[in-house]
Amino acid sequence: MRNFLLNRTQSMQQKKLRNLIVGVDEKIPLEDGRFVKGIYFDNAATTPPFKSVLKAIQQFAPWYGSVGRGKGYKSVRSTEIIEQTRVNVVNFVGGKQDQHTVIFTKNSTESINLLAHILQQVTTKRYILTSEMEHISNNLPWRNYFEVVYIAVNQFGQISVEDLRAKLTALQGQVALVSITGASNVTGCINPIYELAELTHQYGAKIHVDAAQLLPHEAIELSRLNRKEDIDFLSFTSHKLYAPFGTAVLIGGKEFFNEAEPLVKGGGTAQIALKSFVQWKNAPERFEGGTPNVMGIVALNAALRTLQQVNMATIIDYEKKIMNYAITRLQTIDGIRLFSALNDRLSSVSVFTFTIEDLHHQDIADILAKEFGISVRSGFFCAYTYVQKILHCSDEMLDEVIKNASIPSPGLVRISLSFYNTFSEVNQLVEALEKITDNKEYYTKKYQDVPKGICGGQ
Ligand SMILES: Cc1ncc(COP(=O)(O)O)c(C=O)c1O
Repeated sequence: MRNFLLNRTQSMQQKKLRNLIVGVDEKIPLEDGRFVKGIYFDNAATTPPFKSVLKAIQQFAPWYGSVGRGKGYKSVRSTEIIEQTRVNVVNFVGGKQDQHTVIFTKNSTESINLLAHILQQVTTKRYILTSEMEHISNNLPWRNYFEVVYIAVNQFGQISVEDLRAKLTALQGQVALVSITGASNVTGCINPIYELAELTHQYGAKIHVDAAQLLPHEAIELSRLNRKEDIDFLSFTSHKLYAPFGTAVLIGGKEFFNEAEPLVKGGGTAQIALKSFVQWKNAPERFEGGTPNVMGIVALNAALRTLQQVNMATIIDYEKKIMNYAITRLQTIDGIRLFSALNDRLSSVSVFTFTIEDLHHQDIADILAKEFGISVRSGFFCAYTYVQKILHCSDEMLDEVIKNASIPSPGLVRISLSFYNTFSEVNQLVEALEKITDNKEYYTKKYQDVPKGICGGQ
């Protein structure tokens, strides 16, 4: 087996990409006291920062000041960077400056909660259509205000367009929003968001795309040539975009946002607030209560610039190669079962999951971390319904697991790759897994007392 599938030019390019990231060469401790270079395959949970992001924060720090009302030079600079970042975000996701508003939040979860809070104020429609493959951050916020109806996933793990059509037909005129993920945080499966948008609009509903997993890997266009395919609302977070400094985004049409009351009320949200009279500002400020996270916004701005300089096409190309390589190599491991969207019919981001016969998923993650310095995640990844479906777990079985912590929880192990990961790191993972599967009895005994009850995980 060749170690890597890149020619010389591609290898040099990969080195350059890796060099963009902070901490890739850090040594981490193993259980036995040895130190090894850590391998991070948990990029779907959160990514390390770009060096450019740290530099931008440091360069901006001397100019940090109060935002909005301050007239001083530093206040003006701080306000300017926030407004410039809004413009850059709209450009990055192919939106229109005169039509779209960018609201800064602290993470995707907050963005979706905010959208739910706003939507329930401006619609009389009762239903939200979301899917069986969602992260709970794109499910629980809707349950607060609406009846949630689930779009089924098909046999490939992708949202079923036919089921969406059937549900839109059955609930004709009563669906406020279709809220779906751009890509799965479990199988990597990319959904046909523009096709789903077109269908949604035919039935007079709006669409929100949770782009937390899609945007780090694929370019997105909010505004399309065929306007029926436009995405109405988009949310994403910068901690999965190499800028983990507490900023995320909700984007949507300007007019839509100005009809609702804020979720977080207070400083910055009101034009004037007297004892018995409040006039709210327009969006985005109306929904950004309190002092904004300027440094987080500086970080996001720098990350978008770096991603543009690298070029999404370069990222897509490399991630497809390393993902293909990882899948091909892992397939050879004894007793492994892979759950990946990568096949002839579907496209996928560089995320996939697996189980290994007779080994518990939490043990695999534990062993990889403690004995090989490889960070992965295991469990349900907050996509309980999807993992339940993939593993064919009945409700009764999960009920038992919830009630009894001594019953090992079902779950998967996830590998989430980024463009800075190397083929050699994949080889090290394969070698580690081979060692684990060759010594199942030894490892099972060694980790037998570690609790294996239910756990979530991003
Ligand atoms: C698809 C998806 N949506 C939403 C979230 C929540 O993101 P955040 O942690 O930024 O709230 C995640 C996190 O993993 C996710 O994978």
